[in-house]
Amino acid sequence: MFRSLVLLAALLGASFLAAAQSQVQNQSQVQKWFPPDQLMTIGVYYYPEAWPEAQWERDIANIRKLGFEYIHLAEFAWAFMEPTEGDFHFEWLDKVVAIAAKNGLKVVLCTPSATPPAWLARKHPEILMVNAEGRAMQHGAREQADWSSPVYRSYVEKIDEKMAQHFGSNPVVWGWQLDNELSHYGQGISYAPPSQIKFRNWLKEKYGAIARLNADWGNSFWSQTYNDFDQVQMPNPKELVAGANPHAMLDEHRWFAAEAADYLRFQAGVLRRHVKNQWVTTNFMMSYERVNPALSQNDLDIMSFTMYPVTGDAYRGELGFRMGDPAVVSFANDFLRNLGSGVEGPMELQPGQVNWAGVNPWPQPGVIHSWIMRSFGQGARLVCVYRYRQPLFGDELYHKTIVEPDGVTLAPGGKEFVQALQEVQAMRKARVAGAREPADYAARRTAFINNFDNRWDMDNHPQTYRWNTVDHWMKYYRALKSVMAPVDVITEDKDFSKYKYLVAPSYQLLDQQLVARFTDYVRNGGTLILSSRTGQKDRRGHIWEQLWAQPIYDLIGAAIPKYDVLPNGHEGKITASGKTFGWGSWADILEPRPGTEVLATYADQFYKGSAAAVSHKLGAGRVIYIGADSLNGELEAEILGQIYNKPSRLPLNFMVDWRDGFWVANNFTDANQTIPAPAGAKILSGARIVPPGGTAIWQ
Ligand code: GAL
Repeated sequence: MFRSLVLLAALLGASFLAAAQSQVQNQSQVQKWFPPDQLMTIGVYYYPEAWPEAQWERDIANIRKLGFEYIHLAEFAWAFMEPTEGDFHFEWLDKVVAIAAKNGLKVVLCTPSATPPAWLARKHPEILMVNAEGRAMQHGAREQADWSSPVYRSYVEKIDEKMAQHFGSNPVVWGWQLDNELSHYGQGISYAPPSQIKFRNWLKEKYGAIARLNADWGNSFWSQTYNDFDQVQMPNPKELVAGANPHAMLDEHRWFAAEAADYLRFQAGVLRRHVKNQWVTTNFMMSYERVNPALSQNDLDIMSFTMYPVTGDAYRGELGFRMGDPAVVSFANDFLRNLGSGVEGPMELQPGQVNWAGVNPWPQPGVIHSWIMRSFGQGARLVCVYRYRQPLFGDELYHKTIVEPDGVTLAPGGKEFVQALQEVQAMRKARVAGAREPADYAARRTAFINNFDNRWDMDNHPQTYRWNTVDHWMKYYRALKSVMAPVDVITEDKDFSKYKYLVAPSYQLLDQQLVARFTDYVRNGGTLILSSRTGQKDRRGHIWEQLWAQPIYDLIGAAIPKYDVLPNGHEGKITASGKTFGWGSWADILEPRPGTEVLATYADQFYKGSAAAVSHKLGAGRVIYIGADSLNGELEAEILGQIYNKPSRLPLNFMVDWRDGFWVANNFTDANQTIPAPAGAKILSGARIVPPGGTAIWQ
């Protein structure tokens, strides 16, 4: 079986290669699909296959009446498009597309690869993913297929190609989504034979010789040395008696993300054999745990993500569980806007209670509208809501939607969408073409470097259960929003020089070249903000044969002779600007060199009086190093307030951004907030005082 899989993989490899040659559309074409004067367009998911045909006309006409501009179809409809093998049926979908056209709605179609039909799993059980416990999954939910399987890909290729042949020239079809939230959800990654084969092939390609892999994985440790690539297995912590090899784990993450991107490239290539003048995207999961959208930026015309902020997590204050975390969502928009064509937006947005979290509370009134407008303020060009009708059956029957279960009465979340639809219309009229970004806002534009390797390595090997990389990053993101800095989340390959501020929190893995780029950036006048754990390891995840994190000492103007971590129930203290802050997860203890200024000091533990944060002048710029990860992000916000010279910071989680001549303020705090608008400002939505969950928009 192993041999025939390899052979099949090699054969299919040839057709994947052809697919990979297809190109994304150029910028001007993308702008035609998303005309700048339309600002943002809002659509809705509809599943006609779940409703009587007699209701399609009514539902779609109502969707249009509410003001939606497109409908999203066919995402999970494989069993309806190919009910038995090779028997393709698109008549029903043709009817729906025609009804959409009659109502002036555009259509987004979706490849159904997340939900293979029952006949396929029965005929080819080898396509099913195998989870970390070694169990093969069964047909009946979604994302149960291993997309490394050449057999699975051959079936995906057939259905995608048939769909593209059928709809690729239809002018009503505006664009395509590939798959759905590419992941295996709670089952993590697949350890099935096709994945094992592709992982090994990827390693062979990367290392060439097994000796190099042994060196980079540090395989002299615990006799892990391999004689041959065929001995290598995907590291599976559930099957490892003691700690996993962190370098192997890092490569497994890298491979999984590369393989997911390869799968998207494959599907995009199949569509583009026939698709004319229609865009292609996928809906990345907002948390991006394992999949890296940056790897797909040259394969997708636009970028999109799924956004479900309110999932019952009581992460802050009294009302946090009803409003979700504005930092994570905002970060997603700021990241995707800086990839590929720059056109992005949430493809799925929560319309009310969901069904899949541990507890699914009702969102704060107003907050759904606020999420839409937060995305607008950050430059999103599209929003789509999940979904129009509440299912009467199936796993998601508790999920709120635009209309109530009767199919016609507008639900509370639907009303918030209608409000947004009307406001977008009003803003299109009020828009002043060529509006210039206000100078003081533009002057604070900050690049935030996002490198997935750092996150994967620290989360695989955290050194303390209190460390959470994304939480740490979000403390910086929130702090940047509290000084009203517009943020571009960028990948490391981008040019830093156009930014006055560069933030690279917990940048654990680096090399001398990156240190040199940082140094040049600062010498030329940039402000670089680094934090806990930076520079401890090389790109393989090895620590340096030097003093601890020594490669960054000249850059930050300090040594880091030690770090500390505290168990739950213990809180370390830090003083800065006469205030006291707590920390618990990580503290780099700094030893500033002469000339380096101390911004914060440890106030207890045996290293009381040592520096916790420093500022180092270098050439025309400076480097800030914040060594401690504070409990609630207030220390980071305090220091950034000084750096950006913004003593009157906004409260954390009250976020304000500018886009196309409009200021948008979103209040995710527990208290009323006042917008920072001048007296003569024309308020288009909300009022000067914004309640929790509320929004204000002004010109
Ligand atoms: C998303 C998923 C959708 C739907 C939705 C329900 O994560 O992409 O297909 O299941 O959750 O909230």
